[in-house]
Amino acid sequence: MCGIVGYVGSKSAVEILLDGLEQLEYRGYDSSGIALKCNDSINVYKAVGKLKNLREVLSNHTQEVNGANIGIGHIRWATHGAPTVVNAHPHTCNCGNLVVVHNGIIENYKELKEKLEALGCEFRSQTDTETVAHLVAQKYAQTKDLTKAVQLATKEIEGAYALAIMHNDEPDKLVITKRNAPLVVGIGEKEYYAASDIPAFIKHTNKAVYLSDNQVATITKDSLVIEDENGNNVPLKIEQLPWESVALSKMGYKHFMLKEIHEQPDVIRNILSGKLHTSLAPVELAEVMLTKESLKELNRIQIIACGTSLHAAMIGKYIIEDFCSIPVDVEASSEYIYRKTVTDDKTLVIGVSQSGETADTLTAIKQAKSRGSHILIITNRPDSAMAREADSLLSVNAGIEVSVAATKSYIAQLISFYLLAVYMAEIKGSKDANYLTKFKSDMLLLPQKIEEILAHKEVIQNCARKYSGTRDFIYIARGINYPTALEGALKLKEISYINATGYPAGELKHGPIAMLDDTMPVLSVLMKGNVYEKILSNSEEARARNARMIALTNSTDEKLNDLFDFIIKVPDVNELLSPIISIVPLQLIAYYIAEFLGKDVDQPRNLAKSVTVE
Ligand code: F6R
Repeated sequence: MCGIVGYVGSKSAVEILLDGLEQLEYRGYDSSGIALKCNDSINVYKAVGKLKNLREVLSNHTQEVNGANIGIGHIRWATHGAPTVVNAHPHTCNCGNLVVVHNGIIENYKELKEKLEALGCEFRSQTDTETVAHLVAQKYAQTKDLTKAVQLATKEIEGAYALAIMHNDEPDKLVITKRNAPLVVGIGEKEYYAASDIPAFIKHTNKAVYLSDNQVATITKDSLVIEDENGNNVPLKIEQLPWESVALSKMGYKHFMLKEIHEQPDVIRNILSGKLHTSLAPVELAEVMLTKESLKELNRIQIIACGTSLHAAMIGKYIIEDFCSIPVDVEASSEYIYRKTVTDDKTLVIGVSQSGETADTLTAIKQAKSRGSHILIITNRPDSAMAREADSLLSVNAGIEVSVAATKSYIAQLISFYLLAVYMAEIKGSKDANYLTKFKSDMLLLPQKIEEILAHKEVIQNCARKYSGTRDFIYIARGINYPTALEGALKLKEISYINATGYPAGELKHGPIAMLDDTMPVLSVLMKGNVYEKILSNSEEARARNARMIALTNSTDEKLNDLFDFIIKVPDVNELLSPIISIVPLQLIAYYIAEFLGKDVDQPRNLAKSVTVE
């Protein structure tokens, strides 16, 4: 999604802003722009496509831009209007004195535009953002004070926004504000940064202040003043940031996605440490703020999430129902928010989100919270908007995930669900204690098993090479691995653009089987356990239609050699833990196919890392 950066200080702003934007590239974008205070005016430079195009534009203006030490920058993910230079940010008022960059959606932009046009403003772009430039300029004409103008303008704006604004008449000042979109200020030595996310400035400083909704920050190189929407001063709450800049380097891997797949064993060790020391001790989840009594009284759980997090939630449902005998509903956040949902104070609502900023999930969470349910958030970003809504916050600590395709955060979400299910089962006494002890010791072995898969990844690479020419791909599975099939298919389609679909294997014969012929690869997630024989039969049905059969299995059964053209073997594991093992080869297949096809693995087209619009 869009990303904002701002800089005020004594250094040359242009490289700081460009570098900051590059660090935000993972959010996804299709155009970019920068505004710099150069000599007598604020100059705007924009380009469509990757940031290298903006760099090229700027290379023709080095003399005028190099001296600037205040500026704002933006990467845009198009929502209103195509990705063109005109629609790229920064946007300006008619005289060009005021510039603005924006992340989010101005919901009442049409009404605002009509009013502003009636006042003589001329619109050049199709964006919702341009209304902000004209609106703040109108308020500035009345107040001659940029901070006050922003405070007045935002009172008339509906929707979500993070804004950074400069005015040529107050050339040393940057004014920023937000509502339902992330914005953070980095504090350096006589310099400040503003950004949608901390990677934009973490190499310069790890001191920061997170802006709350409706607060307005006025920043010069010597001061940072934060006020609420009515102009009352807000004390600065300075935080030390947890992320290391080294987390943003590829560490020798060709892509962030490959690096993040390889980090998964350590991610699991990291979450387990402090929560599950030995199989003999109960799981410790001090983060769950429900009392033991209210936990025992829960009559229902709802889990809301989107995309990959939704697939983790589906596995969460499976395991919680099995261990705790509490009914669990899982729903895509975007569906949850537009119907009457039934919750009460005995319902636990769990929101799952890597970024903690996904607009649909955030809205759904707020809706559930207003009905009195306890809100538990599972997120990789304890500093996110969702985390701030949480009654209980389970931080998955996967470290920053740069690649748009979620991998290590998914594994971390799954482990969090396993911990939660065991924790609740131990309190409720709803699962045999010996079974849980064995389960916990199996959990502790998971990192080694993933390392085994990664050590033999050439087999998976060969599989990817063999099938990289296909236009379609079907994944089948049953039971707790059905979401694995969905997630494997999602990974492949989002980074290779191949039409991949996951099906519950038993559903194949109810329609999808019509698509099968000798051109169609069908990958069966065939893990030993409850539904093994069933998936085998479903695979036979597909083979009988000449499909190109691939097995992902922990079975050593010889007869698989007759049924499948390609077999990927994974280590043996308890069936309920098998989604942790089975997803890793599917992530790698998606990665290698996309890589063979020469796709932009870390930044697939049309996608954003943090989807902050509904
Ligand atoms: C897929 C992917 C997306 C996200 C989805 C939700 O690889 O990354 O499907 O999972 O946009 O994002 P979060 O988890 O940040 O709420």
